[in-house]
Amino acid sequence: MTDRFTASDRLSAAALRQLGASFNWGVATSAYQIEGAVDIDGRGPSIWDTFANQPGRTVNGESGAVACDHYRRWADDVAMIAGLGVDAYRFSIAWPRVQPLGQGAFNERGLAFYDRLVDALLERGIAPHATLYHWDLPQHLQDRGGWGNRDTAFHFAVYADAIARRLGDRLASLATHNEPWCTAVLGHEIGKFAPGAQDPRLAAQVSHHLLLSHGLAMSAMRASGTACPLGIVLNQSSVTPATASAADQAAAATEYARFVRWYMDPLFHGRYPQDPGIAHYPEVQEGDMALIQAPLDFLGINYYARIWASRDEPPVPPPMALGSTDMGWEIYPDGLRELLVGLKAQYPDLPPIFITENGMANADTLDQGRVADHARIDYVRRHLEALAQAKAAGVDIRGYFYWSLMDNYEWDSGYAKRFGLVHVDYATQQRTLKDSAHWYSDTIAASRRLA
Ligand code: NOJ
Repeated sequence: MTDRFTASDRLSAAALRQLGASFNWGVATSAYQIEGAVDIDGRGPSIWDTFANQPGRTVNGESGAVACDHYRRWADDVAMIAGLGVDAYRFSIAWPRVQPLGQGAFNERGLAFYDRLVDALLERGIAPHATLYHWDLPQHLQDRGGWGNRDTAFHFAVYADAIARRLGDRLASLATHNEPWCTAVLGHEIGKFAPGAQDPRLAAQVSHHLLLSHGLAMSAMRASGTACPLGIVLNQSSVTPATASAADQAAAATEYARFVRWYMDPLFHGRYPQDPGIAHYPEVQEGDMALIQAPLDFLGINYYARIWASRDEPPVPPPMALGSTDMGWEIYPDGLRELLVGLKAQYPDLPPIFITENGMANADTLDQGRVADHARIDYVRRHLEALAQAKAAGVDIRGYFYWSLMDNYEWDSGYAKRFGLVHVDYATQQRTLKDSAHWYSDTIAASRRLA
């Protein structure tokens, strides 16, 4: 492997030591992005099936109907994950696979799939970390108002309880939601994600129902007596004002309130943040906040880039000193340290943290069996250095999951955006480890040697 990377690509010994011997090294995926098999074994339709099939919603009209065909290839994929030498694998459970209508009867064939997956991971010594909701709401519930309907939160708690009872004895962790901001804002305000609504007032109410569903699910799962650590996964960013002007400072505060505090304040302080730049607040019923504030065993954070706040016309562009990814997102590793150190100061009761996603899309090409994705190696190394610095500053960080294990369906962007450590040829479903996968394995091995 020596020609794939050089000494300067190595994660520093100081960072490895700082992250420590018990650090959890992982890779992540989600159901709709990899499974395919959308109408097999009793799975019901989800809002992403509907959305992706509407003209103009996704690049080239692409959907997750086949994706990485993981539903059929799961055993080979588990062997591939084991081959990377990781400790942990984060995946999501497709609600419409295990409860096709999102209410009422459960589907044994769907449940059995996740049983097999979890058992196979455990047999290989890989800790399974599951997420209950990674955006694939059963269409039946959407037809009744989806997350805009408060009843959906109660249905979610029933589903969560069933999964905790079925898999909780074997899961290393169970998260309720993945990135509720995306469901609320991208799904209901901007309309870029399913279900494609463009209604800011509805988006605010949806965000509250998502948080309420989290609280109801936590309460139901705790009552079931599961020993599995329970938490939630939020997408977060540091925010930088473009200039020192009062307008940019105010814009930065608003962005931070909308993106980070909108979820963190209810979870840890029991209230929504007040900010003059926020136009819509949801209707909150008595008792909601007490549920939402249920203690978490862990907090999952997904970090990709910082938010750059500029009010000037034309806007002041971000410096992009380290360039940008194929998504156009600025590469800014120090934002991960800034974010985590800031959170620790603002939320003293912070539970242990997992970085549940971090990674980059890159215009990768497979050339004679090799994908030379040095940019990804550099991205991951720099973010891990930043993470080690946050840990040195006292933040309790337990693990890191690279997004993603393999190239997959990147939502409205379709298949052209490749985030994987493993390259997927969608015509043949051939998987090929990229240079970054080899680098990640070497880094994990180095971490073990230091232990
Ligand atoms: C966050 C989401 O959880 C995941 O589904 C998505 O693919 C990555 N970000 C990259 O955009």
